[in-house]
Amino acid sequence: MTLPSGASLPLGTVHDMPEPTPTTPGGPDPDGHHTGEQYMVGLDLHGRRVVIIGGGSVVQRRLSTLASSGADIHVIAVDPTPTVESFPGITVQRRAYRPGDLAEAWYALACTDDPEVNAQVVAEADSRRIFCVRADDARFGSAATPASVRHDGVTVGVLASGDHRLSAAIRREISRQLLDGSLESSVETTHPPGVALVGGGPGDPELITVRGRRLLAAADVVVADRLGPAALLSELSPTVEIIDAAKVPYGRAMKQEAINQVLIDRARAGKFVVRLKGGDPYVYGRGFEELAACVDAGVQVTVVPGITSPISAPAAAGIPVTHRGVTHEVVIVSGHLPPGHPDSLVDWDALGKLRGTVVLMMAVERLDAFAAALIAAGRDPQTPVALIENASLPTQRRIRAVLGDAARVGRERGLTPPAIVVIGAVAAFDAATGSTG
Ligand SMILES: C[S@@+](CC[C@H](N)C(=O)[O-])C[C@H]1O[C@@H](n2cnc3c(N)ncnc32)[C@H](O)[C@@H]1O
Repeated sequence: MTLPSGASLPLGTVHDMPEPTPTTPGGPDPDGHHTGEQYMVGLDLHGRRVVIIGGGSVVQRRLSTLASSGADIHVIAVDPTPTVESFPGITVQRRAYRPGDLAEAWYALACTDDPEVNAQVVAEADSRRIFCVRADDARFGSAATPASVRHDGVTVGVLASGDHRLSAAIRREISRQLLDGSLESSVETTHPPGVALVGGGPGDPELITVRGRRLLAAADVVVADRLGPAALLSELSPTVEIIDAAKVPYGRAMKQEAINQVLIDRARAGKFVVRLKGGDPYVYGRGFEELAACVDAGVQVTVVPGITSPISAPAAAGIPVTHRGVTHEVVIVSGHLPPGHPDSLVDWDALGKLRGTVVLMMAVERLDAFAAALIAAGRDPQTPVALIENASLPTQRRIRAVLGDAARVGRERGLTPPAIVVIGAVAAFDAATGSTG
């Protein structure tokens, strides 16, 4: 990547203190502009006093990064936003800036919406030799905040001679490449040892978590489910071994054992193994069985939660599983076994008495029996139902029905797994119109 002159990319945080004099002839020119090329450093602010004058949206955006540095943060603002005012672990004084407020500070930020006040803050900072960012016009500050991205323990910062759009655009591109692994060759990707059970979300490759995506990019071996973000597999390097868990041989119980064994064998061979699962690893995903097998074999496991389909499939189809004043409960139920089956752990009578949202998973085949059980226990046959197939994928379908005819409608419309069945008033909601009925 070619960087414009003036842009620089430090990899990692350098725990240097600011240098007393810039490397180029810095300091303000007669107009008060700070001159010279900016010199990028990493400040160790842990336990050090940082004073922020102003408490608006600029401060709100920067607070969490500053707070994660462990700085001792003091905000002075006439009208801080509620988020700034309630930010944990910082001191907020509701008042105007007063000369002397920067006493004892190591670093300062002038972030009010009044250029006069910001100028006074910078002047005080200069007189005290405190580096100071000026948010409304970076040229007048003695420090500038780089556009930064943190990835895998590495902070990348971009300064583009005051061109914020350019620095943000470069940061966005670097961030994208770090996430999809294309910057892997230049940045040593770190990962935990052993096996990572990664929740891949409902199928859309953009609905995996940032951590899941990062670990996937670092994998030597990927053991993938049928459900989940299959599109991400095509982006992996040809050197990555992809094992299709759906094709691992033998019967159901044996198959799970075979999957466990593959995870253990590859991890013992020194490979970093990502077990890529649909949705969340712990929601009807046998994730804990895989974890237990690995732990038992002495293999270290990292669990990365995922966006689970009983919540996200309805959302992708425009249905909120809760809504104020409409439903105060959501119950997620496996349709793996029919009502009355000796191994079933579901109390269908109790479910039928609920008024809120019931989400059925793996329920396409036996929808007749589930609907009948709920109606027999008291649920109104006119209760709205949504059948959502292939949620979040280009083939997504939402079929409307009511409880009394949902199985028939599903059959007639050729409903096939994977599908989610939403039962309850929210199933009639329409995101396109905002209608709730
Ligand atoms: C074995 S469970 C795995 C659930 C997964 N661990 C999760 O958290 O979403 C498989 C069931 O999840 C549901 N499912 C998963 N992905 C889906 C999708 N994209 N659209 C609709 N239903 C989905 C279906 O009910 C499917 O039968």
